[in-house]
Amino acid sequence: MIATALALGALAAPLVAATSYPLKDSWSGDGFIDGWDYPAATYDNTTSGDVFWATSANTSLIYVNDAGRVVLKVDNTSTVAYNEKRYAPELISKTGYAAGTVFVMDAVHLPYGCSVWPSFWTQGTDWPTNGEIDIFEGVNLQTTNQMALHAEGNGCYASDSVTFSGSMQNTNCSTSYNSNEGCSVLDNSTASYGAAFASAGGGVFVAEYAEEWIKIWFITRDSVPSSLSSNATTIDTDDLGTPSAYYPSSTCDIDTYFGDQRMTLDITLCGSWAGTASVLEETCDALVGDATCYTTYVEGTQTTTYANAYFEINYVNVYTNASTSTSSSSSSAASSRSVVQYGAVAGVAAAVIALLI
Ligand SMILES: *[C@@H]1O[C@H](CO)[C@@H](O)[C@H](O)[C@H]1NC(C)=O
Ligand SMILES: *[C@@H]1O[C@H](CO)[C@@H](O)[C@H](O)[C@H]1NC(C)=O
Ligand SMILES: *[C@@H]1O[C@H](CO)[C@@H](O)[C@H](O)[C@H]1NC(C)=O
Ligand SMILES: *[C@@H]1O[C@H](CO)[C@@H](O)[C@H](O)[C@H]1NC(C)=O
Ligand SMILES: *[C@@H]1O[C@H](CO)[C@@H](O)[C@H](O)[C@H]1NC(C)=O
Ligand SMILES: *[C@@H]1O[C@H](CO)[C@@H](O)[C@H](O)[C@H]1NC(C)=O
Ligand SMILES: *[C@@H]1O[C@H](CO)[C@@H](O)[C@H](O)[C@H]1NC(C)=O
Repeated sequence: MIATALALGALAAPLVAATSYPLKDSWSGDGFIDGWDYPAATYDNTTSGDVFWATSANTSLIYVNDAGRVVLKVDNTSTVAYNEKRYAPELISKTGYAAGTVFVMDAVHLPYGCSVWPSFWTQGTDWPTNGEIDIFEGVNLQTTNQMALHAEGNGCYASDSVTFSGSMQNTNCSTSYNSNEGCSVLDNSTASYGAAFASAGGGVFVAEYAEEWIKIWFITRDSVPSSLSSNATTIDTDDLGTPSAYYPSSTCDIDTYFGDQRMTLDITLCGSWAGTASVLEETCDALVGDATCYTTYVEGTQTTTYANAYFEINYVNVYTNASTSTSSSSSSAASSRSVVQYGAVAGVAAAVIALLI
């Protein structure tokens, strides 16, 4: 009896996860650009996007505006000659953060428009090994945010037996499954992306990367609690309500599939998801004749095409209880992102790259 009681006592001992984390890093205003590396690759060689990556030296594309917010934008002033590409930003955090970290991005505008493919995501330090968490991702004139995990091998799955507010698209997180579709969840709120995000005053994305789970929240401006601000020295994810997406470790062992994560902010154009004709035509005009995403949107003078192709960011904060983190030694951090491969269009983009190199 005593032994049994002790055993039950042991089982009943709290296995409650801590959900309060202290501030580690905060990036905003003039200091923002110092937190990031700019990739060594001059063009998007992972999603076949039609961009050259801008660096912090491209001060017309990466700057702080009069409101003190960080703007990361696609070049909409240059005329792009055929076979050339358009400049757009990619920033990868200098630090990789271990499990036990909460990433927060507060923005008032997200990039959108035909051919535009932005994301705020995290990648394992030797991506695609060590996993990928897509916190915010959208293409073209899609109306809601799409979240996802990507994990190597087979064994990481999303679960629909936990409570979250988004709509599950696919549960197999394997990078080898269905051309690396990822276990994606669509946010139910149209305020999570596009013109509606901006007209609502933007909002906050929060991702909790813990050993027990990965959870993602989108909180529209009106609902942002006062406890969530650039000045907040702690965050308690228990205060954030039902997450938009929730991946428990019971169906994806986080320790096995995820390692230190670097934050990435980027905008590519066309490429293997946004530029696929069928995907483009879901929200934009059909391509006519021989036209491609590239010839229609990227090439030439495109001032208005990219008038909304920019992030306008209040701050990015990182909270962590993890004692370890990875620091990049140079600006040659891995510059990669997951792709949904569609042969035909990827082939066209690859041919354009081939002409350039
Ligand atoms: C992209 O280019 C970078 C820099 O040249 C290189 O390190 C990386 O391996 C390339 N990635 C792919 C997928 O080719
Ligand atoms: C970005 O910087 C590169 C390298 O200096 C330069 O060649 C390019 O013209 C710049 N593009 C823009 C739009 O500023
Ligand atoms: C989100 O949308 C899906 C599909 O339309 C629906 O099943 C689900 O109940 C919605 N969630 C909430 C919280 O409204
Ligand atoms: C998930 O994807 C992997 C990689 O393609 C595959 O080996 C595995 O069988 C898939 N799982 C299920 C349940 O289909
Ligand atoms: C930090 O908290 C998270 C969530 O409970 C947990 O997964 C992680 O193990 C904790 N890390 C440390 C170092 O306590
Ligand atoms: C954060 O702190 C700064 C400097 O003390 C202050 O100007 C600003 O109003 C504070 N912001 C918030 C959201 O509390
Ligand atoms: C170019 O883009 C900016 C936003 O990045 C926008 O304010 C401006 O109106 C655009 N130019 C034109 C001519 O549409």
